[in-house]
Amino acid sequence: MDETQRKEFIRQTFNTVASGYDRPALRFFPESAAHLVDQLQLAGHEHVLDVATGTGAVALTLAHCLPEGQVTGIDMSDGMLRQAAGKATERGLGNVVFQAMDMTDLSFPPDRFHCATAAFALFFVADMEACLRGIVDRLKPGGQVLVCGFSEASFAPNIDLFLARIERYGVEVPPLSWKRLSDEGLNHALLSAAGLEQIRVARRDLSYPLPDADGWWDVLWYAGFRGLLSQLSEPDLARFRAEHLAEIAALDRGQGIPLHVEVLYAQGRKPG
Ligand SMILES: C[S@@+](CC[C@H](N)C(=O)[O-])C[C@H]1O[C@@H](n2cnc3c(N)ncnc32)[C@H](O)[C@@H]1O
Repeated sequence: MDETQRKEFIRQTFNTVASGYDRPALRFFPESAAHLVDQLQLAGHEHVLDVATGTGAVALTLAHCLPEGQVTGIDMSDGMLRQAAGKATERGLGNVVFQAMDMTDLSFPPDRFHCATAAFALFFVADMEACLRGIVDRLKPGGQVLVCGFSEASFAPNIDLFLARIERYGVEVPPLSWKRLSDEGLNHALLSAAGLEQIRVARRDLSYPLPDADGWWDVLWYAGFRGLLSQLSEPDLARFRAEHLAEIAALDRGQGIPLHVEVLYAQGRKPG
């Protein structure tokens, strides 16, 4: 798959999962958004760019915190953007706009935004450094960037059981994209290579128990593993689901199914 085909595959995957992305089992996304926005310590008048905004977890949280500011959320999935725009309308938020755009090809002028965020996003693109440089270019001098992603151990042991089993069904598992930014050193190196200063990386545990194995299925089905699961035939998918959810249910020691989610927040400033 070349880069154009890979992007199209990612876009279609997120279009497919958009309607279920805000399910309760996936609440680590909005919970993480709240922590991310807290760390920005905004004054309230800023214009913030939220890159790969998805269904708007970060953008909508930001909009609530910016009574005199604005938020622009971009994403390449129309399905995700429709969910985000629907929530902004429901909440009566007039200071957030959503636009379809590729984060590797931003169409904004330089020095436009006070701040940029990219949650669970940069690891989707082949050249993360070039992408981050493009984002930094759109910041005013002194502007801040905050990116976040999952730590190495996130989703273990559930994800290891999932990957081992789906491989036994003949599905080839590519390297997991989030692992490209899954520790402090990797995040620090990326922000530094993109020319940012005053870099800090913080780690936060957002783990919670899921009520049952179906909650774990929601995580797989709606948070990015649909691409692997869709390679199974209908009968294989049904058999896979039954076998896998039985092994996941066995992880319940009376307090639900553990969902280990640890997030790394990397923050830096544009010189100026
Ligand atoms: C895991 S979701 C994260 C969404 C959101 N930031 C959040 O915290 O919930 C990743 C998002 O990145 C988007 N995405 C992936 N590659 C992209 C690209 N090259 N340009 C724009 N959006 C992209 C996907 O469409 C998807 O909405």
